[in-house]
Amino acid sequence: MPTALKDFTQHSDVPFYQPTGNEEQLFQTAWQQRLPLLLKGPTGCGKTRFVSHMAAKLGVPLYTVSCHDDLTAADLTGRYLIKGGETVWVDGPLTRAVRHGGICYLDEVVEARKDVTVVLHPLTDDRRILPLDRTGELLEAPENFMLVVSYNPGYQNLLKQLKPSTRQRFLATEFDFPDAETETAVIMRETGIDAERARLLVRIAGNIRKLTGIDLEEAASTRLLVYCATLLMADIAFDDAVNAAIIEPLSDDADIKAGLREAIGIIRG
Ligand SMILES: Nc1ncnc2c1ncn2[C@@H]1O[C@H](COP(=O)(O)OP(=O)(O)O)[C@@H](O)[C@H]1O
Ligand SMILES: [Mg+2]
Repeated sequence: MPTALKDFTQHSDVPFYQPTGNEEQLFQTAWQQRLPLLLKGPTGCGKTRFVSHMAAKLGVPLYTVSCHDDLTAADLTGRYLIKGGETVWVDGPLTRAVRHGGICYLDEVVEARKDVTVVLHPLTDDRRILPLDRTGELLEAPENFMLVVSYNPGYQNLLKQLKPSTRQRFLATEFDFPDAETETAVIMRETGIDAERARLLVRIAGNIRKLTGIDLEEAASTRLLVYCATLLMADIAFDDAVNAAIIEPLSDDADIKAGLREAIGIIRG
């Protein structure tokens, strides 16, 4: 039987994650039913933190791969390398998770090369197998193997979307930035900042998020608010902290940056 989900929330080895809905229950059920899970949502809203939280709670190893446009199937499955004059096969992170059990988490999976989906398909249907052509092995995923992938559907790049035939193999859930109260609590917990300043940052983000899609490609994320609070806690002046953690990361355009500064000035009063 797969490991039951125990209440380890007080355990210091479990990374802090503040749930915003029933995502923990969904994850646990996917785990128990051996179904792959797809997390959608904007950058910096807590997807990666959620997965490390759940892996720690379940007590299984987590293999995280940040996908990029050069990532190939071999980066996931493994390759032959020359070691001390000998050629040895070295498992990639996906193979390790399948061979020894654990959660394999492919972050920003749409960035990866097309051949990656070919490796994922037999793992996502009920065969749960990983054929390794290079070694001639056919690995069967153990009970405690789980595949989790995430991507940001908000990306403007239409070419970079997950194919429906791939998407339909996963249970899927959508993440978004937490409501104001939850986000305030997250920032306080992550940085130790006081409620008043945490609330102000959340208000600022709320206003900037309304501009997303018009002037800004990406929203001011919870991650950026955590960065900003970290700078404030290091006694960096408010304007400098906002500049370095929110404005500069969001835009390169002088007019947009000036607009953001003005908007933030008004909110701050
Ligand atoms: N619900 C949450 N609980 C705890 N921390 C959160 C939460 N949402 C966001 N964060 C904070 O935001 C940061 C970025 O989140 P992350 O999981 O890396 O985002 P994503 O993977 O969606 O891009 C985390 O390191 C954490 O500080
Ligand atoms: Mg992430």
